[in-house]
Amino acid sequence: MMPTHVTLVDVGPRDGLQNEKEPVSTEHKAQLVAMLQAAGLKEIEVTSFVSPKWVPQMADNLAVMAAIQRQPGVRYSVLTPNMKGLEAALPTKPDEIVVFAAASEAFSQKNINCSIAESIARFAPVVEFAHAAGIKVRGALSCALGCPYEGEISADQVEHVVRLMKDIGVDHMGVADTIGVGTPRKVQAAMERALKHYPLVEVSGHFHDTYGQALSNIYACLELGVHNFDASVAGLGGCPYAKGATGNVATEDVVFMLNGLGIDTGIDIDKLVDAGAFISGVLGRPPVSRVGRALLAK
Ligand code: HMG
Ligand code: MG
Repeated sequence: MMPTHVTLVDVGPRDGLQNEKEPVSTEHKAQLVAMLQAAGLKEIEVTSFVSPKWVPQMADNLAVMAAIQRQPGVRYSVLTPNMKGLEAALPTKPDEIVVFAAASEAFSQKNINCSIAESIARFAPVVEFAHAAGIKVRGALSCALGCPYEGEISADQVEHVVRLMKDIGVDHMGVADTIGVGTPRKVQAAMERALKHYPLVEVSGHFHDTYGQALSNIYACLELGVHNFDASVAGLGGCPYAKGATGNVATEDVVFMLNGLGIDTGIDIDKLVDAGAFISGVLGRPPVSRVGRALLAK
């Protein structure tokens, strides 16, 4: 049942940098993408097409998409919460777009300023136009393991929003633990609800590591056969609308664990550590990744 290969999406350039206090230059963002693809990442979440008033760190989305040097075989994705975002993103030719809903009403309001039902109504034409342009649509489901405003989120509620996303044609379901409160059995329960509506190959986990549970949660997903995960080089990240949320699980830590399990990722861990050291240098702090620190100290 354990997979033999895992695909990782590095969300560092997007999730990782969207919450930084100091602006990161377009050039440094493009350099990070270059180093990630050199390390063997085949999927990279590059930026988001959201309101620059809400998330100023992603305001250079067009410039970043123009600056990246695309490598054949690598897929580049961007976040688009509405038609305005999709229309801006389309000319930049993303391989995939991401629409992001929440399992909690309160988080939906804080993050994208509308109810869950309204968000689905906004996503429907985004999905339709993306598909017409031949672009795959991934869905992210925030707060699937808990909400900073509402607390516990039930598996029933997760399944309810999964079904809404499925009904409008979202191709892939990313189950997201925005505030990192999930633990392995709860994560499995949420994943199983997504797996009722999506095939194994189209379900992924997105775990913030706020409470240090992310690697265990990924292992719990592997037990279900799930083999797609988001991760963030150097453990960068956080969500501006989830106070105290830390970064995603560090890509280096996930690759180290998977290497130990004999599960292939196609990623060169030394080059990945270099990418983490690079962006951490830009940000002026050591990588959050434990593996990154350990390998750099060698
Ligand atoms: P709104 O204020 O409800 O939108 O924001 P609106 O349609 O009323 O428009 C208001 C203004 O925003 C207008 O500009 C629009 O043009 C502009 P104004 O006339 O005031 O100058 N606008 C846009 N500008 C650029 N791009 C757009 C866009 N849409 C409207 N796409 C909106 C709604 C969703 C835009 C806003 O709430 C927003 O941008 N929120 C930011 C959401 C965000 O980026 N959150 C972080 C990413 S999600 C995440 O991190 C979670 C994830 O990692 C999974 C997990 O860990 O949980 C994926
Ligand atoms: Mg996130």
